[in-house]
Amino acid sequence: MKNTISNEELAGLVEPARLHKRLYLDPDIFELEMERIWGQAWIFIGHESQVPATGDFFSTNITHKIPVVMIRDKEGQVHVLHNRCGHKGAKLVESRDGNVRGAFRCPYHGWSFRHDGTLLKIPNEKGYEGTGFDPSDSCNNMQPVAQVESYRGFVFATLSSTAPDLKTWLGGAVDCLDNLCDRAPEGEVEVAGGVLRYEHECNWKFILENLNDTMHPMVVHQSVVQAAEDYIASLPASAAKQRSEAEIIPPFGSSYEKFEDSGITGFPYGHHYDGGKTSIHADYTVLPAYHEAMVKAYGEERTREIYSFNTHNTLYYPSLTIKTAVQNIRVVRPIAVDRFVVETWSFRLKGAPEEMLQRTLLYSRLINSSAGMVGPDDLEVYRRAQEGLQSSASDWVEFHRQYGRDQQLPDRVIGGGTSDLDMRTQYKAWREYMTGEIAQ
Ligand code: FES
Ligand SMILES: [Fe+2]
Repeated sequence: MKNTISNEELAGLVEPARLHKRLYLDPDIFELEMERIWGQAWIFIGHESQVPATGDFFSTNITHKIPVVMIRDKEGQVHVLHNRCGHKGAKLVESRDGNVRGAFRCPYHGWSFRHDGTLLKIPNEKGYEGTGFDPSDSCNNMQPVAQVESYRGFVFATLSSTAPDLKTWLGGAVDCLDNLCDRAPEGEVEVAGGVLRYEHECNWKFILENLNDTMHPMVVHQSVVQAAEDYIASLPASAAKQRSEAEIIPPFGSSYEKFEDSGITGFPYGHHYDGGKTSIHADYTVLPAYHEAMVKAYGEERTREIYSFNTHNTLYYPSLTIKTAVQNIRVVRPIAVDRFVVETWSFRLKGAPEEMLQRTLLYSRLINSSAGMVGPDDLEVYRRAQEGLQSSASDWVEFHRQYGRDQQLPDRVIGGGTSDLDMRTQYKAWREYMTGEIAQ
């Protein structure tokens, strides 16, 4: 696209503790974000367990427009390819998932491609003889995305050939992915229970800002917390099952002091999490059968250590947010400056009792679904912000809370749980990506 916004102008939109409203409203900025953030960062594509068998595929977009497909070949390797025919560009697969038996077959002129994207066959090929066309030229293949890597089954891809390796890019925030997997007695997780897809009529950055904004839950979610507490108080002593289900909600109404204690930790490239020593999930009951399986697998000490790393939300900027303690993730995909989609996927902890998965699915439905009790509260305030920011009253959105008190360590920044450190972390990365200063 034609770039009409200079780096100097872009840098001026993000100050250390406030940012310009154009970041939420300007379609030109949105297009640049797709090119410079989404086109350069590692983007979460899917989990390997979504494509367990040869030829299984899962399709998605890597930016707002660029379609890709994740597929497993017969050697078991997972590829992420551009979902584009090597002939005249038609998308090879249209459905979200499925199985490509022997090869991809283009619906237009029938060119076929192996699972690794290489061209297999062209119908009526003799028409190309003597024309200078070279079927072995790799430009006729389905093209691989520039870089693809998997970490403990989580597949990321980037359109940038110069992005650092995935482990470097994840930095210290990798501890949360490890903890999610370590919570499985077998040390592995797999996708289960389907996906919740939820379109939001607002800018994609609102959900990232909300994740570790601990000044909002006790306000935005006040009514549902009150209703859940009243319900729990009305339960007879014998209603243990209902109590364990309802107890998912009240932590969202935790006090400022409790959230402050949880702390926020930020990393390069915009990643951050809240919690660590404790989080709002720390008081959920541990099922005895699960605890038994964990102790059998890891021993008492290591099991305690795994439980004790208790985070709430972790953001792998800009596309993936995970909740280690409840084994679900949310995947963000922008559509336009004022629209994005969130997908919630839940995970089975391999080796854990089935009840753990049921609790994860219940959590997802209660908190993250479009018919849930918590996520829709958040959407309502994002929508109001998207509308309110149209006002000419002020050009700025601020994030000064505890500014100047963040503590810089060699590989991370730590600060108070009710600080705006999460905002400062992600908008530092925003500015670096957008102005070409990010370490690539
Ligand atoms: S566009 Fe795919 S075979 Fe022609
Ligand atoms: Fe919320």
